[in-house]
Amino acid sequence: MNDAYDVIVIGGGTGGYPAAIRAAQLGMTVACVEQRATLGGTCLNVGCIPSKALLHSSEVLTETQEGLAQHGIAATGVSFDLSKMLARKEKVVADLTKGVAYLFKKNKVDWIQGSARFETASRLSIVSEAGSVRVVEARKAVIIATGSEVATIPGVVIDEQRIVSSTGALSLSKVPKKLVVIGGGYIGLELGSVWRRLGADVTVIEFLDRIVPGMDGQIAKQLHRMLEQQGIEFRLQRRVTSAEATQDGVRLAIEPAAGGEPESLEADVILVAVGRKPFTASLGIEAIGLELDAKGRIPVGQGFKTNVAGVFAVGDVIPGPMLAHKSTLDGVTCAEGLAGRYAGVDYARVPGVIYTSPEVATVGQTQEELDAAGIAYKQGMFPFTANSRARCNGDTRGMVKILADARTDALLGVHIIGPDAGTMISEAVLAMEFGGSSEDLALVVHPHPTLSESLKEAALVLQGKGMHI
Ligand code: NAI
Repeated sequence: MNDAYDVIVIGGGTGGYPAAIRAAQLGMTVACVEQRATLGGTCLNVGCIPSKALLHSSEVLTETQEGLAQHGIAATGVSFDLSKMLARKEKVVADLTKGVAYLFKKNKVDWIQGSARFETASRLSIVSEAGSVRVVEARKAVIIATGSEVATIPGVVIDEQRIVSSTGALSLSKVPKKLVVIGGGYIGLELGSVWRRLGADVTVIEFLDRIVPGMDGQIAKQLHRMLEQQGIEFRLQRRVTSAEATQDGVRLAIEPAAGGEPESLEADVILVAVGRKPFTASLGIEAIGLELDAKGRIPVGQGFKTNVAGVFAVGDVIPGPMLAHKSTLDGVTCAEGLAGRYAGVDYARVPGVIYTSPEVATVGQTQEELDAAGIAYKQGMFPFTANSRARCNGDTRGMVKILADARTDALLGVHIIGPDAGTMISEAVLAMEFGGSSEDLALVVHPHPTLSESLKEAALVLQGKGMHI
């Protein structure tokens, strides 16, 4: 181990580890400081990956219980073992985090396990879990990739037992009879779906008058309806004012968002999923005069430069969508910049996916955003009920919605709710990256019969040439 590197990355998550690997590939000597016992950050350890493992397991269960009959397949006596399901999830996580450690070795990135603190802009002291201190110097750059932490609400203290964040909700040792989810966003809907499918009564309390704020309103309405059909109850325009652990559960007080009569709710477990906030505590940023904005994020300029020379920041600690693939984009681009290459990013075409059943996937602007910006657009929609493959598969839920500039036909936004939406959205992202129009999408030959034909069909509808509806 050295005591000086060209680049030191703080944080081994989806922003930090790609930054470290790319910088090493570009010829720099690199260390990555990570305090967890495994690499991969929130996404791999307690976020995207374990949640998708559980989402998939619980979907397999529901499909076996409810989806097989339509195919003439009888499955009786279906049951599940939660501890095995959780163990499988842990194995998926362990394998992937080990994979990152292997990639570090392969690319000669030194992983320094411990917690980093700035002594100067280029010198870090790193405290290991055992308490030993090591000082390392960065010759060229320090990249802060420390991610985000769970946002909390006053009056609700997370204990990860009965009042849990997403971390605790990924490891509940038994299925709660009643789960109350605070927040109808990405985490609330995904993890609420998992526990609903495993048998919990789930109620989602959302402050606003709709779920998934920021998603296209029409798509969000469909998702709301579909999740209700799956048995999730929604209480919109409600705020939680307190939550206290009782003998055998949690008692919550909620009231209308606009104020009014409070109401009491009982639950076995409550999940707090009201967003995440940038994590910069314990870095000692005051020692180097690093500026934060009003939301606690680190503002960056071209090439991810902070206000301190030689210090860069990427991922959830900087402005932009808090998504794993966005932080990877940041990390890799930042490393490219350090090697003197182009280091610009454009978040306008970063897709978002909610891994509910069905999935919701989106890229570009929503109808509401276009209306608010006064941009004239045309729209084309195509429901999966009219898609032959969806019919073969026996799942015709959802639709594709395409928004294109009324004057130039440039694609402005594509929103999909339906099976495999998260995979299908990449076609729209690619089209938009290439400056594509709805006419382009309509002209592209799609294999038949596939779900992705619905993208072409929605584009045809937009063009006034719809054929299958
Ligand atoms: P979120 O920002 O997606 O949703 C939070 C929800 O809570 C919003 O609907 C908000 O209106 C509501 N809310 C806020 N305060 C409230 C209160 N006091 N009472 C009731 N409702 C309240 O945040 P979430 O779901 O916690 O996710 C955190 C971050 O992780 C997000 O930035 C998300 O993008 C990311 N994430 C992404 C996933 C994906 O890409 N599939 C999966 C999970 C998380």
